[in-house]
Amino acid sequence: MSAPDRYGVMGYPISHSRSPVIHRLFALQSGQHMQYELLQVAPDKLESAVQQFQRTGGRGLNITVPHKSEVARLADELSDRARIAGAVNTLIFQDEKIFGDNTDGIGLVRDLTTNLQLELRGARILILGAGGATRGIAGPLLDLQPRSLVIANRTLAKAEALATHFSSYGSVTACRFNDLPDNEPYDLVINATSAGFKGENPPYPESAVGSATVCYDLSYGLTATPFSQWAAAQGAARSLMGWGMLVEQAAESFQLWRGVRPDTITVLNQMTINAS
Ligand code: ATR
Repeated sequence: MSAPDRYGVMGYPISHSRSPVIHRLFALQSGQHMQYELLQVAPDKLESAVQQFQRTGGRGLNITVPHKSEVARLADELSDRARIAGAVNTLIFQDEKIFGDNTDGIGLVRDLTTNLQLELRGARILILGAGGATRGIAGPLLDLQPRSLVIANRTLAKAEALATHFSSYGSVTACRFNDLPDNEPYDLVINATSAGFKGENPPYPESAVGSATVCYDLSYGLTATPFSQWAAAQGAARSLMGWGMLVEQAAESFQLWRGVRPDTITVLNQMTINAS
């Protein structure tokens, strides 16, 4: 039998990544002859590590924190969504060329609209945070044609820069956490800060959450994240963690590489079995 096709995920640090488990489950499920490696690569070694992976026959990579912006520079061609996000989470090596794509936003949208059956056209959406995670999701969320998208951030200037960047794709407003444009609860509140990840608990805006609000933390854990605990305590209709986005963005990458759409729900259930 021939050697398995090689894929992997590069990040720094990387030991916590769930991607190998997810892609192995996808491969098993769909009978794909492939292997998926965990690759810890420091920022100053990124270029040489990507080149070496390509040179030695690698077929594709996932790219995670902190390399998502930097790696865009190494691609010969970028998808529109990667270019708009200014970030890449998937590389495809083909015909000696490197294609860069970003499946984070579409992964979130699939979880929200297909798995959770949320109707977001005409909705009012609030994103907390204005870093790389927000850059990845804002474009695909605006494609759903919400009534408005508000980006609230501790540092106003960063929210303003993103609002300007995305303004040609829909109605986007920037503000600070304590200065939301109105006091009505939002339909959807997404936590895209890295605060919980660092064990910090910022003063999220209480007026944003009402009994019909769905709250979604891009972070995930085997126990509730600080934001999802906060959202439940505010009386949100639902308080969800980002497991679905994690599995859906992986499925999009897998489909780009292998041309096969995996069954995500089975894998999601396997991943979160201890998290409910
Ligand atoms: P990522 O790629 O995960 O988005 P990032 O680009 O460093 O990481 O952005 C982190 C985001 O989390 C930023 O919006 C940051 O707010 P600032 O722009 O003000 O730094 C936000 N964040 C991190 N820790 C926070 C905290 N304790 N309180 C509020 N916001 C926080």
